[in-house]
Amino acid sequence: MTLMGRISQFFSRKSIVTKGGGDKAIDKQKAVGKMTARERIAALLDENSFHEYDLFVEHNCKDFGMSDKELAADGVITGSGTIAGRLVCVYAQDFTVAGGSLGLMHARKITKIMDHAVKMGIPVVGINDSGGARIQEGVNSLAGYGEIFYRNTMASGVVPQISVILGPCAGGAVYSPALTDFVFVVNQISKMFITGPEVVKTVLGEEISMEELGGARVQVETAGNAHFFANSEPECFDQIRRLISFLPSSNRQKAPVTDPRSPRETYTIQNLIPQDSKVPFDMRDIVRAIVDDSDFFEVQELFAPNAITGFSRINGETVGIVGNQSLVLAGVLDIDASDKIARFVRFCDAFNIPLLTLVDIPGYLPGSDQEHGGVIRHGAKVLYAYSEASVPKITLILRKAYGGGYIAMCSHHLRADLVFAWPTAEIAVMGPEGAANIIFRNEIMAAKNPEEMRKLKVKEYTDKFANPYVAASSGYVDAVIAPEETRAYIGHALKLARDKEEMRPARKHGIPPF
Ligand code: HXC
Repeated sequence: MTLMGRISQFFSRKSIVTKGGGDKAIDKQKAVGKMTARERIAALLDENSFHEYDLFVEHNCKDFGMSDKELAADGVITGSGTIAGRLVCVYAQDFTVAGGSLGLMHARKITKIMDHAVKMGIPVVGINDSGGARIQEGVNSLAGYGEIFYRNTMASGVVPQISVILGPCAGGAVYSPALTDFVFVVNQISKMFITGPEVVKTVLGEEISMEELGGARVQVETAGNAHFFANSEPECFDQIRRLISFLPSSNRQKAPVTDPRSPRETYTIQNLIPQDSKVPFDMRDIVRAIVDDSDFFEVQELFAPNAITGFSRINGETVGIVGNQSLVLAGVLDIDASDKIARFVRFCDAFNIPLLTLVDIPGYLPGSDQEHGGVIRHGAKVLYAYSEASVPKITLILRKAYGGGYIAMCSHHLRADLVFAWPTAEIAVMGPEGAANIIFRNEIMAAKNPEEMRKLKVKEYTDKFANPYVAASSGYVDAVIAPEETRAYIGHALKLARDKEEMRPARKHGIPPF
């Protein structure tokens, strides 16, 4: 064959394979409102930046009529490209090819690109849209999943791993996303569950739709398996691009630095806290009053909203922000908020992102639901994650810091580098009312007017402890600062801690309260 002939043969083979499952399957994909795998990669990456690998990989299954069946690219597209000029590795399952089902070679394409990402120190974005284990391949497809789970675990804390659920992701297949750092879902398109509605009906006799069982909203609001929710695929890709902009490419780097910008003038920090300490306020407004361009990219916004977590920048550098949100459940720590905070703190620590903790916490949520659900072991995750974190840790106590919540929210005792408090801070074992009722119970009961006495004792306790000065007098607070001094103090503290080094005892690994 001539040189020209060979080149034209290559182009014709390539054009067949890049058509995926063919027009009919593509039409079916579009009819349910989904983009094709190639369109998704193109929408995610910078224009013309995608370089594809392993296009001609073929499955090796000979059973159930598979030997003469061609599956384009074996149902998954892999390669690398850029997002805003930053390198990323990508794979996208192609549902138009055998339902994006995962056979051994399909899995090998994924593990190969993951290995590549870890070696080169660049993030991996995996787009999941699959009927799960390729049934014809039997145990080989399970082996493929096992290899992916192992890679996910080995890559954890080395390169950022992002999962995008853009179709079904069912059975054991969900465990790859669950092992990654961030999971993105799209309304009406994403479906994640271990056992589908049919199994639920057979085993439990319950009728439930796929959407109610494991749709996008359920995953972000209730289950907490997903971190970001979008109404469309393009919106989802914009969110991924934004997330990547805050992150370093690997644990060997720091996040990229941008030009410093002041917060927008709409957020005047002095006016954001209500006069009455019982009135809630939006902690996100405080964040926006502190950070560059008032830009706060929230993580798990819809899950456990009594805590907030997310990324911002201060003086151009990425900061991971954790805060209590008094607008929801008065900002208590409960099981879900503890999981949310602990996981976020560990991510930031693994990827050299300093932590800013904003405290306004009345304590842990009481009740048998919480106790029986394991609030002890879940709450312990927060203590563990903060204690273990060796990145710069700056804490600001704005209002309440009561009891275990005071300790857990990155106090000095868990090795915060600097703790600041506003004059409105109240640092005590518990709120003044609860405290007075317990320690002055006898005096209150014996008084002629118990209600008067109670008020008096609450005031006495408030005057003594509901302020930052007792903690400051012991050095547990490094500086009491005015709200308008906040950005300057935090900016300086982050600069001070930038090259911080902290030794840890030698061990294989700790045993966090998983
Ligand atoms: C092989 C599969 C497949 C699979 C779908 N297909 N899933 N082929 N193995 N797991 C094929 C279909 O035969 C069909 O081929 C094409 O993909 C499109 O599928 P449809 O059923 O037409 O699509 P749709 O109606 O949209 O339904 C999607 C679906 C359904 C809900 C995902 O396909 C489905 O229920 N699939 C099986 C799901 C499943 O039980 N997977 C195994 C789970 S166990 P043709 O040739 O007709 O176009 C598992 C264990 C993992 O994953 C364990 C890891 C530890």
